Amino acid sequence: MRKVHLVTFGCQMNKLDSELAAETLADAGHLVVDDESLADTVVFNTCSVRDHAEQRVLSRLAQLKPRRLADPDFRLGIMGCFAERDGEDLLRKLPHLDFALGTRQFLRLPEVLERLDLGDSVKPEKAGLFGPAGAESPGIHQSHPRARHQGIQGFVSVMRGCDNRCSYCIVPDVRGGEVSRPAGEIAAEVRALALAGAREVTLLGQNIDAYGKHDNTSLSALLRLIDETAGPETGLVRLRFVTSHPCDISRELVETVRDLGRVAAHFHMPAQSGSTRILAAMRRGYTREEYDDKLAMIRDVLPDASIASDFIVGFPGESEADYLATRELVETARFTNSYIFKYSPRPGTPSALTMEDDVPDIEKKRRNNDLLAVQNSVNANRGAGLVGRRFTVLAEGVSSRDARRWTGRTEENMICVFDAPPEGEAFQGRLVEVEVESATPLTLFCRRVDGNAREQSKD
Ligand code: 5AD
Ligand code: SF4
Repeated sequence: MRKVHLVTFGCQMNKLDSELAAETLADAGHLVVDDESLADTVVFNTCSVRDHAEQRVLSRLAQLKPRRLADPDFRLGIMGCFAERDGEDLLRKLPHLDFALGTRQFLRLPEVLERLDLGDSVKPEKAGLFGPAGAESPGIHQSHPRARHQGIQGFVSVMRGCDNRCSYCIVPDVRGGEVSRPAGEIAAEVRALALAGAREVTLLGQNIDAYGKHDNTSLSALLRLIDETAGPETGLVRLRFVTSHPCDISRELVETVRDLGRVAAHFHMPAQSGSTRILAAMRRGYTREEYDDKLAMIRDVLPDASIASDFIVGFPGESEADYLATRELVETARFTNSYIFKYSPRPGTPSALTMEDDVPDIEKKRRNNDLLAVQNSVNANRGAGLVGRRFTVLAEGVSSRDARRWTGRTEENMICVFDAPPEGEAFQGRLVEVEVESATPLTLFCRRVDGNAREQSKD
């Protein structure tokens, strides 16, 4: 039996994969420990989306090198996207790295640990497993509601991989092509999660609007099936899904979100750039006008929908005029949030192979900071306009900044801080009515106006 500590980098899909890995380890009799100093095995679940994410893993591995080399029983491994992209090389180059498991192989973690333990204990052999999982391997889609008992939030992967080929993106290389899970299996899992205590479930997919496209079904049909299978009697109050591609998001989907009360009217639909010229170089498959049309379509069906976006600044060839087009999009689109990244060439991707990374880092930084400031002022304006408005918040837990306050999120995914309930923990997972008293760009400060608050004030 090993004491394994898992560290996760990257996106929500990676966080879910770490939970699946932890569950698989526990099933095999290993102990998953929170404290790294108590572990005899450390596994990094890695991200490759930008160079920075890889560098952080390399420095964490270097930190653990002395411990690994001093202790022949200690095991150090990586899983996830960086393992898939470069695991073979890393195993060769790093004497302190014992194993690397790719994005479709990580459920074989217990098998690999066992294999290493059977080796020579002074210098155990190394293990690397990459590429698609064979028929004999455990299915990575399999999920375990048990992993989510404590929290009120559940995450379910509905599809993996991506069939697009955006020129900057490593995901198709490291996660393979799109594979959708059967709708019935997903719906049953959401139901099981809700019955086990999840109040909000987020469906995950790298390109979730393409769900079911190879199987003649759709995300709309999936949402309807989940709505029927996990009815309100299960305690499920909210359903979310990420991430939407502007090309694949349809009016039918937005209408389904409108019609199903429990599906949050929140879309994460990355634009990446506001310049048609750059969008073409990125091979995004839409123009700026087409993106604007999608925004208008969503707001036509759901006027209050919240929409979040991602942007890459400093893509090869991005001129000041291109950047200003992106800036203008952020100024006018009323995004709930924008996640902004500096372009990072990824080995083997079309943009890295064929385009020079010609925007100097200092300029990327300037554009990054400038765009952040624009989104911040959009948020500040919106926040000021929301004072006095009421929202329904899903109570998540005690605020990390102030133990007398609680936090939760609105349907639009805005963070709210509000006064603590008298009944303590039992409040978690409840829908609470609040009224906004003040706002900062990222947080709404509210007072409760629900039944309990009224009863309290009568006392
Ligand atoms: N460089 C910088 N940002 C990137 N992203 C994806 N690939 C790169 C890259 N090579 C960003 C995109 C994507 C988010 C998850 O990461 O904005 O939506
Ligand atoms: Fe997630 Fe993409 Fe990073 Fe992989 S490379 S962890 S899919 S963000």
